[in-house]
Amino acid sequence: MKRLLALTTAIAIALPFTPAAADSPDSPGSQGAGDPYFPLQGNGGYDARHYDLTLDYDPGTRVLKGTATISARSTQALSRFNLDLSKTLTVASVTVDGTAARFTHEGDELAVSPASAIAAGKPFTVAVAYAGKPTHIVDPDGSKEGWIRTPDGVFNANEPEGAKSWYPGNHHLTDKAGYRFTVTVPSDRVAVANGSLVSQNTAMGRTTYVWVAKEPMASYLTTVSIGDFTLTDTTVGGLRTIVAVDPEHAAAAKNLAQRHGPVLAYFSGLFGPYPFSTTGAIVDNAPGVGYALESQTRPIYPKVPDEVLLSHELAHQWFGDAVTPERWKDIWLNEGFATYAEWMWADKRGATPLSTAFSRAYARTADDRFWQIPPADPGNAKQLFKDAVYVRGAMTLHVLRKEVGDKAFFTILRTWVAHHKYGNASTADFVALSKKISGKPLDALFDAWLVKPGKPAL
Ligand code: TRP
Ligand code: ZN
Repeated sequence: MKRLLALTTAIAIALPFTPAAADSPDSPGSQGAGDPYFPLQGNGGYDARHYDLTLDYDPGTRVLKGTATISARSTQALSRFNLDLSKTLTVASVTVDGTAARFTHEGDELAVSPASAIAAGKPFTVAVAYAGKPTHIVDPDGSKEGWIRTPDGVFNANEPEGAKSWYPGNHHLTDKAGYRFTVTVPSDRVAVANGSLVSQNTAMGRTTYVWVAKEPMASYLTTVSIGDFTLTDTTVGGLRTIVAVDPEHAAAAKNLAQRHGPVLAYFSGLFGPYPFSTTGAIVDNAPGVGYALESQTRPIYPKVPDEVLLSHELAHQWFGDAVTPERWKDIWLNEGFATYAEWMWADKRGATPLSTAFSRAYARTADDRFWQIPPADPGNAKQLFKDAVYVRGAMTLHVLRKEVGDKAFFTILRTWVAHHKYGNASTADFVALSKKISGKPLDALFDAWLVKPGKPAL
């Protein structure tokens, strides 16, 4: 189906073409946000502001019934606009501002034609009713993401493109929005999402959980995970900390909520205040997933995290979640930073000195393929989560710190978060900020560490 969409574009370009007038019937939003690694991810022509997702899931039948009500604002006149949604799900109806709209669903693109075109710069609401048996997505690198079924429910992790497997949206990382999740499951299961739990009501054997994530969030950081969880809702270091644990992990997770306190306090001192109003964790029993994800305010883990993994996912709350890359190729801004924070926490708690972490990483010999991937552009979607993105990214920060000194280095990190919190930023933005704050010409350093393949000299 992607081929079909590409063909449509080619024909449109080949035909003589007059730019559409503002209220012309022919002014569709683009079907992708223009990310070179994921060309059809996200959509053009509008900005999603808020998602109200009402979901009903039965782990027995595996049927998901959903209504997504999305408040958006057009950024151009729209005769038509797209949402990303897996074809596995069947759309029953679409309305725009309460009026039925025509739609087509080809590939993972739901194209909506409102009864009358939307003018540029106008708020509008699109509501999509859909249902089906969601299935996970296999990443370009072969790992599973999205709606990943477990024996008792769902392990839901959505980086980089899993969100479309369970709800329609503008699923590129540049379109952040607030969320409300209303999730109904059988009463012997628990549904956990991002943000605050605002209510929980049981009637006729089913329980509805309402979660509100008020700070802007990229859709790859959303989660609605379902299972036989035990929920604890406590205050740790002044922050609401909601932890959901699969019974399989109950013993090992005993003090997990409390363990967040020292890590978040340490990082707040280094990076500036924790950027969200809640925190916590989802610890699921998901054999075969093999990774954790920094879902906003509530990372999801396939086992109880050790200090290394806990600190990694919590550091992402600043680097990745509050400040999100502009393009997927900027992913080292997430992984390099979280890895460096992991190293700093290991140093702080006396496990591994920072200099040891750096020299161990640098000890890879020059012929190691590791050095062939430059963190600032790992090359393609398949290489997004390669070691070099994490480890060479972290080494870059260490070398930068040595070059500019601690004072400038931490001013750079704090300013980075303060300036871009709830938004997006690029590698070029980081380089420019580092030069500005340090007053040093850092081009050679960043070029060697981020851009050029090969092992940089020290
Ligand atoms: N971003 C995750 C982390 O904290 C890792 C991750 C997400 C990942 N999706 C993935 C790793 C897919 C491998 C494959 O590091
Ligand atoms: Zn990470």
